[in-house]
Amino acid sequence: MVFKYIFGEPIETQAVVKPIEETPGSLPYFTTVRKEEGYSFTFRMGDKDKIWGLGQQVRGINKRGWLYRSNNTDDPEHTEGKHSLYGAHNFFVLKGETTFGVFFDYPGAMTFDFGYGKKEEMVITVPGEDFKVYILTEDKNSAGEIVREFRNIIGTSYIPPRWAFGYQQSRWSYGTEEEVYKVVKAHQDQGIPLEAVYLDIDYMERYKDFTIDRQKFPHMEQLIRDLKEQHIHLVPIIDAGVKIEEGYDVYQEGRDKGYFVTKEDGSYFTAGVWPGLVHLPDVLNDKAREWFGNGYQELIQMGVEGFWNDMNEPALFYSLEGLEAVLKKAETINASQMDLNDFLELQPLMNEIANKKEDYESFYHEMNGKRIRHDKVHNLYGYFMTKAAAEAMDRFAKGKRMLLFSRSSYIGMHRYGGIWTGDNKSWWSHLLLNIKMMPSLNMCGFLYCGADIGGFGDDATGDLLLRWLEFALFAPLMRNHSALGTRRQEITRFDQMEAMKEMIALRYRLLPYLYSEYLKAAYTGGLYFKPLAFVYEDDAMAQEVEDQLFVGESIMILPVYEQNRSGRWAYLPERMLLVIFSTAREYTEKVLEKGSHYIPIEEHQVALCIRENHLLPLGPGGQNTEEASKGDMKVLGFVTREAEYEWWTDDGVTKAEGATDEDSLEAKGVRKGKFTVEKDLKKRQEGKKESGI
Ligand code: GLC
Repeated sequence: MVFKYIFGEPIETQAVVKPIEETPGSLPYFTTVRKEEGYSFTFRMGDKDKIWGLGQQVRGINKRGWLYRSNNTDDPEHTEGKHSLYGAHNFFVLKGETTFGVFFDYPGAMTFDFGYGKKEEMVITVPGEDFKVYILTEDKNSAGEIVREFRNIIGTSYIPPRWAFGYQQSRWSYGTEEEVYKVVKAHQDQGIPLEAVYLDIDYMERYKDFTIDRQKFPHMEQLIRDLKEQHIHLVPIIDAGVKIEEGYDVYQEGRDKGYFVTKEDGSYFTAGVWPGLVHLPDVLNDKAREWFGNGYQELIQMGVEGFWNDMNEPALFYSLEGLEAVLKKAETINASQMDLNDFLELQPLMNEIANKKEDYESFYHEMNGKRIRHDKVHNLYGYFMTKAAAEAMDRFAKGKRMLLFSRSSYIGMHRYGGIWTGDNKSWWSHLLLNIKMMPSLNMCGFLYCGADIGGFGDDATGDLLLRWLEFALFAPLMRNHSALGTRRQEITRFDQMEAMKEMIALRYRLLPYLYSEYLKAAYTGGLYFKPLAFVYEDDAMAQEVEDQLFVGESIMILPVYEQNRSGRWAYLPERMLLVIFSTAREYTEKVLEKGSHYIPIEEHQVALCIRENHLLPLGPGGQNTEEASKGDMKVLGFVTREAEYEWWTDDGVTKAEGATDEDSLEAKGVRKGKFTVEKDLKKRQEGKKESGI
């Protein structure tokens, strides 16, 4: 059951798409307190209560014991002391004596104190008057079913083209055409599948959106075509800020039409980002959003089929006013007579100038005919920038599925694109954070997700990159990306290249299964990455395991996320078949009983467990997703009675025109096949293709 409570006059965020009647009265479970500004909602937690959800946040899958703030922030230090990252995903499930789900549809900054202030107290604070709250309950007290209910009201998650499940290479910054060709060649010479190369900000003319630096990319059209002939897509970045420069058409048009966000006095708000001074397109205004979306047209017409939207929290290195104040202050200090106090005053000025609260409170949007101060809708900016791109794709590439993901997001954006998890680091702890964050994102509707494999900031080592690939080969978005100035991170540069290549090859063998499970998760509101707690709801141990995950219905993965480890402990909530892949084709199998096991997993190996009477289809693999989706398949299985696997697929490129959530799967182009295997004492055998494709 879904109950909807309305406070004041909420801003329409379009997060929820199903019409739901308002429930009168006050929120169940919580004590509501009216504050001077806004409300707080308090719930007394039981000792054993767990909290799942909140999407992109630091810490564990169980969110209990920390203070989280939904306040989309460009912060590249994802340490556990942080309260906010780039996304605001205000949905969670509390699982305990009573189990219920909660979604706060409020696009300003708000906090979730999950036992931080007081151990047993959950306090949710909304510093605003206008918002909606959804409470979800379910007869069986199942966290998974509550997530399904929630996903049902927020609409089907974005489904990318199938090629976007291929291996993708990025780096800030591939600066010239030659460099892109070189990266491609380096992969091809080694027989490494590669399906996308990313262009970071350096392809643009002085970081101006929708421009191409023709000095460095004189034959962009040719480059796009050449790569596409080799099944490789070029994916350019688009940033939120539009450079202020006379003669630059995007700037001039936006300025003349009044499409940028404004300050209180009506003049345009000015901030500094990569291009220097910029204005921010008012993507919350329908007309301005359509106009900004038009910017994508030229690249789409050149053949681009994917984009990543960045800096859309929106990130502000500084505001013009902020910078001027700092410079003025600096002028008052005389360098030759500077003492410690002056120094301590000067030092933080520049450090604290970015992403300031006062700046976010100083500009306005025109949304549905109303002037709204930015901080009230802050968390919607990345969402609506991505909506601008998605709507543009529907206009300029009708009926075609395009790749699209964003750094900043809010629930609702999951229908338009995916996300990557921003500027992580080449740290083992960030591999673990990646593992833990994926299921939380899935709960909030974000399925097409991934972290920068190998880490964005700092220098990666070969073993870290290999272990990261061994996890990320299961993630829908599989992209290696790294920052300017860090050690080069293409897999061709490491001693472990052969092993890495095998792991990518294994990804291509698993593709039919991974894609099938993705479609199921998207269309049925299920989780692609599932914590064990969602599969074994009554198993106390399973409730606490956070470093093993289910991927789809058949397999549980056992990633290794620590350096110098040649194995790991794993908890099996039931008897399972352990499969250890050493290459894409070589593997060993062993039945393990329920309980804890130490499992040797060498650096070049990846381990997974197949559930009893479940099947794992394996495709032929290949150099690209098209090859990997054709040809004979076999199944691995752990069959003691009989097992069946329903395989879902589609053509991988077509976007069902105008299909709504209510339409049948067939109408959306989904085709189903079935594998069945009867009991086989050898436990491993070829699958019998029963029907379908
Ligand atoms: C931001 C992005 C990162 C990108 C960089 C340069 O930090 O998060 O992925 O490489 O900007 O564009």
